[in-house]
Amino acid sequence: MILDNKVQLFEISYVSKAAQEIGLSSLFHLFNVCQNKNKKNNLTGVLFFENGHFAQILEGEREIILKTWDTILNDQRHQILRKISFKEIDERLFPNWGLRFYGAEKIAQDLPQLTKVLDGLESHDSELLEIMRSVSLNN
Ligand SMILES: Cc1cc2nc3c(=O)[nH]c(=O)nc-3n(C[C@H](O)[C@H](O)[C@H](O)COP(=O)(O)O)c2cc1C
Repeated sequence: MILDNKVQLFEISYVSKAAQEIGLSSLFHLFNVCQNKNKKNNLTGVLFFENGHFAQILEGEREIILKTWDTILNDQRHQILRKISFKEIDERLFPNWGLRFYGAEKIAQDLPQLTKVLDGLESHDSELLEIMRSVSLNN
Protein backbone atom coordinates (compact mmCIF):
# COMPACT_ATOMS: atom_id res chain seq x y z
CA MET A 1 0.00 0.00 0.00
CA ILE A 2 1.25 3.50 -0.84
CA LEU A 3 1.40 5.94 2.05
CA ASP A 4 1.38 9.58 1.02
CA ASN A 5 3.13 11.95 3.33
CA LYS A 6 2.28 15.57 2.66
CA VAL A 7 2.21 15.23 -1.13
CA GLN A 8 -0.38 17.08 -3.16
CA LEU A 9 -2.51 14.23 -4.45
CA PHE A 10 -4.51 14.51 -7.67
CA GLU A 11 -6.94 12.37 -9.58
CA ILE A 12 -7.24 12.49 -13.36
CA SER A 13 -9.73 10.53 -15.41
CA TYR A 14 -10.62 10.30 -19.08
CA VAL A 15 -12.51 8.33 -21.67
CA SER A 16 -11.18 7.63 -25.16
CA LYS A 17 -11.94 5.86 -28.38
CA ALA A 18 -9.17 3.49 -29.41
CA ALA A 19 -7.46 4.34 -32.69
CA GLN A 20 -7.77 0.86 -34.15
CA GLU A 21 -8.53 -2.74 -33.27
CA ILE A 22 -6.29 -3.65 -30.37
CA GLY A 23 -5.53 -7.35 -30.03
CA LEU A 24 -5.35 -9.08 -26.68
CA SER A 25 -1.56 -9.35 -26.72
CA SER A 26 -1.07 -5.63 -27.53
CA LEU A 27 -3.49 -4.78 -24.77
CA PHE A 28 -1.61 -6.98 -22.36
CA HIS A 29 1.71 -5.42 -23.36
CA LEU A 30 0.27 -1.92 -22.87
CA PHE A 31 -1.14 -2.86 -19.51
CA ASN A 32 2.16 -4.36 -18.29
CA VAL A 33 4.18 -1.32 -19.40
CA CYS A 34 1.74 1.05 -17.73
CA GLN A 35 1.53 -0.95 -14.52
CA ASN A 36 5.34 -1.02 -14.19
CA LYS A 37 5.64 2.68 -14.91
CA ASN A 38 2.95 3.46 -12.36
CA LYS A 39 4.68 1.43 -9.67
CA LYS A 40 7.90 3.37 -10.27
CA ASN A 41 6.01 6.67 -10.19
CA ASN A 42 3.77 5.95 -7.18
CA LEU A 43 0.74 6.20 -9.42
CA THR A 44 -2.34 4.10 -8.76
CA GLY A 45 -5.57 3.57 -10.61
CA VAL A 46 -7.75 1.54 -12.86
CA LEU A 47 -8.08 1.01 -16.63
CA PHE A 48 -11.17 -0.22 -18.47
CA PHE A 49 -11.37 -1.37 -22.09
CA GLU A 50 -14.49 -2.49 -23.84
CA ASN A 51 -16.05 -2.13 -27.25
CA GLY A 52 -13.20 0.00 -28.62
CA HIS A 53 -13.17 2.47 -25.71
CA PHE A 54 -10.75 3.08 -22.88
CA ALA A 55 -11.55 4.76 -19.58
CA GLN A 56 -9.07 5.32 -16.80
CA ILE A 57 -8.57 6.88 -13.39
CA LEU A 58 -5.05 7.72 -12.27
CA GLU A 59 -4.05 9.15 -8.89
CA GLY A 60 -0.77 10.40 -7.57
CA GLU A 61 1.47 13.38 -7.04
CA ARG A 62 0.45 16.41 -9.12
CA GLU A 63 3.59 16.86 -11.25
CA ILE A 64 3.82 13.14 -12.02
CA ILE A 65 0.16 13.00 -12.98
CA LEU A 66 0.65 15.95 -15.34
CA LYS A 67 3.73 14.41 -16.97
CA THR A 68 1.98 11.07 -17.41
CA TRP A 69 -1.08 12.83 -18.79
CA ASP A 70 1.14 14.29 -21.53
CA THR A 71 2.34 10.79 -22.44
CA ILE A 72 -1.21 9.47 -22.50
CA LEU A 73 -2.39 12.38 -24.69
CA ASN A 74 0.39 11.71 -27.19
CA ASP A 75 -0.17 7.96 -27.36
CA GLN A 76 -1.32 7.09 -30.88
CA ARG A 77 -3.56 4.32 -29.58
CA HIS A 78 -6.13 6.94 -28.67
CA GLN A 79 -8.21 8.43 -31.45
CA ILE A 80 -10.49 10.80 -29.54
CA LEU A 81 -9.85 11.46 -25.88
CA ARG A 82 -11.71 13.56 -23.33
CA LYS A 83 -10.63 14.40 -19.83
CA ILE A 84 -13.40 13.85 -17.28
CA SER A 85 -11.83 14.96 -14.01
CA PHE A 86 -8.69 16.63 -12.73
CA LYS A 87 -8.94 17.46 -9.08
CA GLU A 88 -7.15 17.39 -5.79
CA ILE A 89 -8.06 14.48 -3.55
CA ASP A 90 -7.46 13.83 0.14
CA GLU A 91 -6.63 10.18 -0.24
CA ARG A 92 -6.32 7.52 -2.91
CA LEU A 93 -9.27 5.34 -3.86
CA PHE A 94 -6.90 2.63 -5.17
CA PRO A 95 -3.88 2.62 -2.83
CA ASN A 96 -3.11 -1.04 -3.58
CA TRP A 97 -3.41 -0.99 -7.36
CA GLY A 98 -0.53 0.22 -9.58
CA LEU A 99 -3.14 -0.29 -12.27
CA ARG A 100 -6.08 -2.67 -12.10
CA PHE A 101 -7.43 -3.80 -15.49
CA TYR A 102 -11.06 -4.46 -16.37
CA GLY A 103 -11.57 -6.00 -19.82
CA ALA A 104 -14.81 -7.01 -21.54
CA GLU A 105 -15.23 -10.28 -19.68
CA LYS A 106 -14.75 -8.81 -16.21
CA ILE A 107 -16.93 -5.83 -17.06
CA ALA A 108 -19.76 -8.13 -18.25
CA GLN A 109 -19.42 -10.16 -15.07
CA ASP A 110 -18.89 -7.47 -12.42
CA LEU A 111 -20.00 -4.17 -13.97
CA PRO A 112 -22.66 -4.72 -16.63
CA GLN A 113 -23.92 -1.16 -16.06
CA LEU A 114 -20.59 0.20 -17.35
CA THR A 115 -21.26 -1.14 -20.85
CA LYS A 116 -24.04 1.42 -21.37
CA VAL A 117 -21.86 4.41 -20.52
CA LEU A 118 -18.43 3.44 -21.89
CA ASP A 119 -19.17 4.90 -25.31
CA GLY A 120 -17.38 8.25 -25.33
CA LEU A 121 -20.57 10.33 -25.04
CA GLU A 122 -20.05 13.43 -22.90
CA SER A 123 -23.53 13.05 -21.40
CA HIS A 124 -22.32 9.78 -19.83
CA ASP A 125 -19.19 11.22 -18.20
CA SER A 126 -20.47 11.64 -14.66
CA GLU A 127 -22.13 8.22 -14.51
CA LEU A 128 -19.03 6.64 -16.03
CA LEU A 129 -16.79 8.28 -13.43
CA GLU A 130 -19.07 7.20 -10.62
CA ILE A 131 -18.99 3.56 -11.78
CA MET A 132 -15.21 3.67 -12.25
CA ARG A 133 -14.74 4.99 -8.73
CA SER A 134 -17.11 2.38 -7.32
CA VAL A 135 -14.76 -0.51 -8.18
CA SER A 136 -12.46 0.68 -5.40
CA LEU A 137 -14.96 -0.95 -3.06
CA ASN A 138 -13.87 -4.34 -4.47
CA ASN A 139 -10.39 -3.77 -3.08
C1 LIG B 1 -4.97 3.28 -22.77
C2 LIG B 1 -3.67 3.83 -22.30
C3 LIG B 1 -3.43 3.88 -20.94
C4 LIG B 1 -2.23 4.39 -20.44
N1 LIG B 1 -2.03 4.40 -19.10
C5 LIG B 1 -0.85 4.81 -18.62
C6 LIG B 1 -0.57 4.73 -17.24
O1 LIG B 1 -1.40 4.28 -16.43
N2 LIG B 1 0.64 5.14 -16.81
C7 LIG B 1 1.58 5.61 -17.68
O2 LIG B 1 2.68 5.95 -17.24
N3 LIG B 1 1.34 5.71 -18.98
C8 LIG B 1 0.16 5.32 -19.49
N4 LIG B 1 -0.07 5.37 -20.83
C9 LIG B 1 0.97 5.89 -21.73
C10 LIG B 1 1.94 4.75 -22.01
O3 LIG B 1 2.57 4.33 -20.83
C11 LIG B 1 3.04 5.16 -22.87
O4 LIG B 1 2.50 5.53 -24.07
C12 LIG B 1 4.03 3.99 -22.97
O5 LIG B 1 5.28 4.48 -22.66
C13 LIG B 1 4.05 3.32 -24.29
O6 LIG B 1 4.93 2.23 -24.22
P1 LIG B 1 4.90 1.10 -25.38
O7 LIG B 1 4.88 1.84 -26.69
O8 LIG B 1 6.10 0.25 -25.18
O9 LIG B 1 3.62 0.28 -25.20
C14 LIG B 1 -1.26 4.87 -21.35
C15 LIG B 1 -1.51 4.82 -22.73
C16 LIG B 1 -2.70 4.29 -23.20
C17 LIG B 1 -2.95 4.20 -24.69
